[in-house]
Amino acid sequence: MENKPIKILAIETSCDETAAAVIGKSGGDIKILSNVVASQIELHKKYGGVFPEHASRAHVEKIIPVVSEALENIDPDIIAVTTGPGLIGSLLIGVNFAKTYAYAHKLPIIGINHWTGHIYSNWAKKPYPQFPALILIASGGHTGLVLMKSHKDIQPLGGTLDDAAGEAFDKVAKLLDLGYPGGPALSKAAEKGNPKAYNFPRSMLKRKDFDFSFSGLKTAVLYETKKIKKLTSKIKNDLAASFQQAVIDILVGKTIQAAYEFKPKSICLCGGVSANKELRGQLSSVVGKLPWRTSFHLPPMELTTDNATMIGLAAAYYLNKAATYDKISADPNLKL
Ligand code: KG4
Ligand code: ZN
Repeated sequence: MENKPIKILAIETSCDETAAAVIGKSGGDIKILSNVVASQIELHKKYGGVFPEHASRAHVEKIIPVVSEALENIDPDIIAVTTGPGLIGSLLIGVNFAKTYAYAHKLPIIGINHWTGHIYSNWAKKPYPQFPALILIASGGHTGLVLMKSHKDIQPLGGTLDDAAGEAFDKVAKLLDLGYPGGPALSKAAEKGNPKAYNFPRSMLKRKDFDFSFSGLKTAVLYETKKIKKLTSKIKNDLAASFQQAVIDILVGKTIQAAYEFKPKSICLCGGVSANKELRGQLSSVVGKLPWRTSFHLPPMELTTDNATMIGLAAAYYLNKAATYDKISADPNLKL
């Protein structure tokens, strides 16, 4: 399996995107052959957040058309699927579809952790990150720093103690009534605001560990809004810009602290919040000023939020984990 050319069908349904992709691997050459994502944004808009029951029903409806579109006329050699973490009802659709496909076609299957998938969105294009690589995962369900010494050695350095960065974006966007999904809506409002208008707390930056906390920041924004009689568009834009800058300072500050401790050859950003242009730009410029040579890597925009390409890319490096369908199961609390 390691050397002959293979095609991996990857499936991702851990939250609110039904996604399938095909990755081709021939020796050391890895190519993205297709990438299909069916978004459920419209479905969850009216609830202002992901409604788990509706998410799993939509996965059931979308999984066959999405996989068919990704496969076109391709016969895959191996299946990869996100087994966790995520919403159990959502995960089960992808995992059981993948297991059934593997069983029917007598194909091996690889279970991939969703966070490992996000990490590998940085392996979508060359030049690839070099080891040791320091990776900041900032998504809706998790925020954490990871030290990757090799494909086999991925070590979490710390994680979020409460809300994840994306979750904080979503909650503050809701509070300011900026629209859904919150992250992109808030960053759009922030473009028109003054990031220095409000001085929100940059929690955890004085601590030496690599944990994150965003709930205090979210509460600080809430208290600030309570003091304001009328939330005009200008005030909302200023609150959004000031909040966004506080999140960026925390994410960038902790990443740089970890960089000084571990002296990585590469620094990578991934997860849904890596779609944030300000974060991409500010982290890139700070990494560029480090006093040793460190390359900086970002996933292509379309691979920042949930997709199956990242799951297939990860699987391409873990072919030795291929198993039979009966060895794979969904785990909503799977750890990195
Ligand atoms: O990685 P992802 O698609 O799902 C999880 O694994 O959680 O991340 C989704 C998160 C959401 O919280 C969303 O608001 C955030 O990523 N996000 C953004 C932006 N685009 C998506 N946050 C800030 N700025 C953005 N442009
Ligand atoms: Zn994700």
